[in-house]
This record gives sequence, structure tokens and C-alpha cells, in this order.
Amino acid sequence: MTQDKPDLTAAYALASTAETKRLYSDWAQSYDLSFAAKESYHLPWQTARAFVAAGGQGPVLDAGAGTGLCGQALFDLGVAPLEATDISPDMLAQALQKDIYRDVIEADLLSGIPVPRGSYQGVVSSGTFTHGHIGPEALPALMRVAASGAQFALSINAKFYVKAGFDQALERLQNGGWIRELTLPEVAIYGEDADEAHRKDTAYIALFKKS
Ligand SMILES: C[S@@+](CC[C@H](N)C(=O)[O-])C[C@H]1O[C@@H](n2cnc3c(N)ncnc32)[C@H](O)[C@@H]1O
Repeated sequence: MTQDKPDLTAAYALASTAETKRLYSDWAQSYDLSFAAKESYHLPWQTARAFVAAGGQGPVLDAGAGTGLCGQALFDLGVAPLEATDISPDMLAQALQKDIYRDVIEADLLSGIPVPRGSYQGVVSSGTFTHGHIGPEALPALMRVAASGAQFALSINAKFYVKAGFDQALERLQNGGWIRELTLPEVAIYGEDADEAHRKDTAYIALFKKS
């Protein structure tokens, strides 16, 4: 169940698509200040930097883009063009205001993304593969819209990684020859001045190329 106040505790407890849409609708306007800035939320930057360091280039899809913090980091690093997709129209409305995305696409990553197969040379995602959100079931939709050779950089909460089955899902993709050059650097999600409950939380950045 969601709580009245949109925050990380409520987000980690989400249990349905309806709850997800409601929480992020309530959170959209204040997310960047009440959460990202206040908690020194570094993950969007970590994800974008890892993508660029791996040689990632546009066009890039930012999956679960929210208010566009990862897109903003990519934009600042000179990556273009960028497109955003998210299940929450209210979060996407905030992302659009940043004026960094060529397009925004409202979609449930678990149902597919309505763009042609092979549209992107890069796929990033920050903060969406985590507790109360979505797991490896979303990987086929992301693989479908990526071109052959596309660079992926997907953050996955470290405590959620095995629990959600990302270890097995990525192993299957690798063993099946669908992806190559998989690495999983571990990064801090928040800065040292974040709330004590989450200050030490980490995420893996799943870096790989679509074969
Ligand atoms: C914690 S926010 C992260 C937003 C942004 N990437 C960031 O790092 O600030 C998680 C985002 O995932 C989106 N989301 C959750 N479930 C989704 C789904 N099934 N399909 C698409 N987006 C989803 C939410 O609407 C929300 O914007």
C-alpha cells in the first residue's frame, strides 16, 4: 500500500501499476527537490557516466526516466538525441520541461514500448529496477527497441538484484548470445549527507552490449 506522503519508503512498498501511477503523480512536482537534491541522489549521474565511459552514444532511450535526471546528466555529458519513456505521465511532464528529450513516450515497460524495433543505439535506466518497481521482466522490451551493438547501462538496486532474478536473467541473455561484454560495477546511490537509512545503499550498473 502507498502512504499519504510520496517518499522512498512508499516507493519501495508499491504493489501495483495503479499504486505506482498514483505515487508518482503525487511526487512528480516535488521529486527533484524533496527527494533528489535533499538525499544527494547520485544514481542518475553514476548511470550516465558509466554509459559514456563504456562508449555509449545516441540515440538513447531513458527507460523509467521519471523527471529526467539521468537524461539531464547525459545531456550535460554531450549525449544526444535522447528519448524518455515512463509509465507516469506526470513524471514525463516534468521531464519534458527540462527541454532535453526529443520525445517522451508513456508506456509500461512490462507491456512493451511503442517504437520500432532497433530504434536506439543506447538504453539507460536509473532507479527503476528496485524494490516495489520492476524486475528483469522488462528486459525483453528494452532489448527489442535496441539496435544491434547498442550499449546498455541499467542501474539495479544491489539488494534487489538476486531477489528479483537479475543474475539468472542476465546469465541467460549472455549464454544465449543475446548480449556481450557484461560488467556490473557497484556504485553508491546517495551521497554521504543522505538520510541514514539509505546512505550506504548501492546499485549495480549492468553494462552490456546487445549482440
Ligand atoms: C525512482 S523513479 C526513477 C526516475 C529517474 N530515472 C531517476 O533516476 O530519478 C522510478 C520511475 O520508474 C517508473 N516506473 C515504475 N514502474 C514502471 C513501469 N512498469 N514502466 C515504466 N516506468 C515505470 C516510475 O513512474 C518512476 O518515474
